[in-house]
Amino acid sequence: MQFDTHNKLSPSSVKLHWLVAIMMIALLSTGLIMEKLEWYAMYPWHKSFGVLIMVFVIWRVVWRIKNGWPSHAGDYTQIEKTLAKIVHWLLIIGTVMMPISGFMMSAMGGHGVALFGLELVARNPDPSNPAEVIVLNGSLAQAGHVMHGLGGNILIVAVVLHIVGALKHHIMDKDGTLRRMLGAEI
Ligand code: HEM
Ligand code: HEM
Repeated sequence: MQFDTHNKLSPSSVKLHWLVAIMMIALLSTGLIMEKLEWYAMYPWHKSFGVLIMVFVIWRVVWRIKNGWPSHAGDYTQIEKTLAKIVHWLLIIGTVMMPISGFMMSAMGGHGVALFGLELVARNPDPSNPAEVIVLNGSLAQAGHVMHGLGGNILIVAVVLHIVGALKHHIMDKDGTLRRMLGAEI
């Protein structure tokens, strides 16, 4: 198995980073849009990809525990090191908490969860009006909703800071931070 070195990141680190990054950006934007526009046709897709990403998130966390964080590719100042550490932790925690809170909100709210049509948690229809659902556990559903909404907003700020940082290293410092995450040897 290939581990990260200072000059080159392993294929696992690079592939998992970009796969999770693209899915996270897509889920954050579709989540916000579908909720604002009440675009209900999007909900099953959002939930399915939200559940699917969990596989890669767990894989990534296990990989980070085995491999450790990558070393700094350039001459980071102390404040940059601290900021990068905080943001990387927020991103990792966010990628774990968002699917869990989304799942909790939908399952406990009685709406059910399916993975591309495969039922994981059944919907709980109201017998007197099957178009509506009965909540299974109101406090857990509410906690999931608050975590999903608040977590989503915190994560968006962290992702923006993260992208600005990556571009700063690439354009201003001209160091190998971004090239190394793209798989290049620096
Ligand atoms: C990494 C995974 C996920 C991300 C980044 C994500 C992101 C988001 C965001 C940003 C919103 C808008 C929240 C708001 O403004 O209040 C949202 C809404 C929503 N998400 Fe997710 N989500 C993920 C996974 C899931 C999963 C696994 C489920 C359910 C199984 C789910 C179910 C929902 C539902 C039902 C809404 C709409 C809530 C409403 O209408 O009040 N999400 N998501
Ligand atoms: C266009 C978007 C993105 C760019 C250009 C980008 C770029 C980078 C770069 C250059 C690094 C290496 C930093 C270093 O060596 O100090 C990195 C690491 C990292 N990125 Fe991103 N990233 C993006 C999106 C995301 C997203 C959406 C997430 C998660 C929500 C994310 C999570 C992480 C994490 C946790 C690390 C730490 C190393 C690792 O665990 O792989 N990134 N990113």
